[in-house]
Amino acid sequence: WKTLDDMDLKDKTVLVRVDINVPVENGRVTDATRIEKIVPTIKDVIAKGGRPVLLAHFDRPKGKVVPGMSLRQVLPALQAALPGHRVSFAEDCIGGPAKQAISAMQAGDVVLLENTRFHPGEEKNDPMMAAALAALGDVFVNDAFSAAHRAHASTDGIARLIHACAGRQMQAELKALDAALGTPLRPVVAVVGGAKVSTKLDLLGNLVGKVNHLVIGGGMANTFLVAQGIEVGKSLAERDMADTAREILAKAKAAGCTIHLPGDVVVARDFAAHAPHETVAATACPADAMILDAGPQAVADIAQVFESCRTLIWNGPLGAFELEPFDSATRTAATKAADLTAAGRLVSVAGGGDTVAALNKAGVAERFTYISTAGGAFLEWMEGKPLPGVEALNQ
Ligand code: 3PG
Repeated sequence: WKTLDDMDLKDKTVLVRVDINVPVENGRVTDATRIEKIVPTIKDVIAKGGRPVLLAHFDRPKGKVVPGMSLRQVLPALQAALPGHRVSFAEDCIGGPAKQAISAMQAGDVVLLENTRFHPGEEKNDPMMAAALAALGDVFVNDAFSAAHRAHASTDGIARLIHACAGRQMQAELKALDAALGTPLRPVVAVVGGAKVSTKLDLLGNLVGKVNHLVIGGGMANTFLVAQGIEVGKSLAERDMADTAREILAKAKAAGCTIHLPGDVVVARDFAAHAPHETVAATACPADAMILDAGPQAVADIAQVFESCRTLIWNGPLGAFELEPFDSATRTAATKAADLTAAGRLVSVAGGGDTVAALNKAGVAERFTYISTAGGAFLEWMEGKPLPGVEALNQ
């Protein structure tokens, strides 16, 4: 795929697909990270003489106009991120309103088009919708890695109709992800946590063939303990996934990937912050208790694995990180990873909504090599699946 460096944008209308599907509460953006990340691309387009017109979705309106899902509510935060540029809004992403807003643009202006998902043709990747979008501009720039797992008109169809390239944020994501799993420095360790094995089967299956060490945490670890005949009391565990967990263990063994499960765990009787708790061996969870975090010995073991590796890829917390003090294992292991990264000994890449929230809460996100802004796209990439939005740039 091409980048902005390969494109002549002088006097061109440049349709930039961005992901500004940001959290909004009471009409205000509460986390502008995704907005800040697209600024370099917008500024580069302007610096190259182009007129940036932003294409984006917001939430899941399912092909209907839902006023509460209008991108207009993101406009003030976008304007704040682009001081010195006039950012205007078009009430529709295709047709008259979009054309009028674009024809009124002056040098340095930016236009944001209304939610592409207000049209049913967007998610259906309808060729008519893609053509209507493509008709608005001369060049397409995809800067929305986090929406690249969707084969929609604004991510896939349009890229096949006009000259297309990757934006700066897309480039940065792909470079970081390649450094983590494509051509990584070895050994590589993956940390996979979260509640359920069933939602991360493909991911585990792909990782065991690619990484040297796989640390399993969170509720998923309980399922693996059950698969080994260990009783986990009232813990969250998917007992019907025990066979699958055993298959993953066997696949890992055959591939030379070492799986790390917690040897000790923190247990409590209640799923609540500050519930009375104790540390026990993973084989000794009382029948009336539940595992809420990995224990200190498990964390020390994980730290040692990190010490022995050159690359870390992380998705999912190690315990019930939303409940203090059961965020302890995630916090301590993440701090260790951040320290090794800062010392130049580890390349660390993390992604997925919960993961980024946990690393931010632990105050270590800035010291990781790269934090992906993607949720679903990061997972699909970790599963080894091709991402349509990236594939389309290769057409
Ligand atoms: C995200 O928030 O992960 C992206 O914007 C994709 O959103 P979606 O899951 O609704 O397609």
